[in-house]
Amino acid sequence: MAIYPEITDRAVVITGAAAGIGEAAAVAFYQQGAHVFLFDIDRKRIESIAAKLGDRAYPIAVDITNPDAVASAFEAVDRVGHGLDVFINCAGGYQKLLTVEMMDLEEWDRTISLNLRAPFLCCQAAIPRLKKSKAGRIINVTSISGRTVHAASSPAYGAAKAGVTQLTRFLAYELGPFGITANSIAPLTTLTPRVAALRSTEDLGRIAAQVPLGRIATVDDHVSAMLYLASDGAAFVTGVALDTNGGRVMM
Ligand SMILES: NC(=O)c1ccc[n+]([C@@H]2O[C@H](COP(=O)([O-])OP(=O)(O)OC[C@H]3O[C@@H](n4cnc5c(N)ncnc54)[C@H](O)[C@@H]3O)[C@@H](O)[C@H]2O)c1
Repeated sequence: MAIYPEITDRAVVITGAAAGIGEAAAVAFYQQGAHVFLFDIDRKRIESIAAKLGDRAYPIAVDITNPDAVASAFEAVDRVGHGLDVFINCAGGYQKLLTVEMMDLEEWDRTISLNLRAPFLCCQAAIPRLKKSKAGRIINVTSISGRTVHAASSPAYGAAKAGVTQLTRFLAYELGPFGITANSIAPLTTLTPRVAALRSTEDLGRIAAQVPLGRIATVDDHVSAMLYLASDGAAFVTGVALDTNGGRVMM
């Protein structure tokens, strides 16, 4: 993984830091020397990850779909006293492969709440803090499912992720005058524990066969993109939807 000395001492909030891509991001930013705030609903796991990382890791248990809980979580970041430089919105996902016809309203609302409403709530809370930073960054994790229909998935999830891509463009437009960049990364299928429970080996093989680079993604494929977007080298990159998908979506 590339080293970005400027990330040392920056304060980074990562939602969904207890597992998968978010956990890998927390470890990678910590290794770069950042102060890392692990936001997740799974208190036990973020406490255990933070304890293994060290004293620049701060576990903050929060349900990011709850506006009051989000406000309290960011107040906890303020109390630590390092400000906020990078906000990474990684929590998300879905648990069932469904068609539009199969999806009930409860599942639709739950999926939209986690994947679209929560990113809005968290970005809104992050903005006044990022305005005080000299290198403010928002990185929203979307999905290939918000860019194209590449395999059976969740229509609510795909719609929410497409929404976050557009939300990110609004953020880039509104926050540019404050020197804050806002970008999204759109991962391809990645073998996190959640995805292992969702998709069969055959299914994963079918997805990999459609990728020009010949495999599904690893968490590091996405974390490398996050580090780049947080770095000084990406200071003039904003509003971008970066496809970390091995060429599966080519525009
Ligand atoms: N894994 C993939 O194949 C893949 C592909 C494309 C996009 N993505 C996106 O990448 C991101 C991470 O995916 P992953 O597979 O690593 O997920 P994951 O399920 O492994 O981790 C998600 C984390 O979010 C946390 N979380 C769930 N609901 C929460 C809530 N209400 N409040 C706070 N935390 C909550 C979970 O506890 C978990 O730690 C998601 O946004 C997902 O949509 C993943």
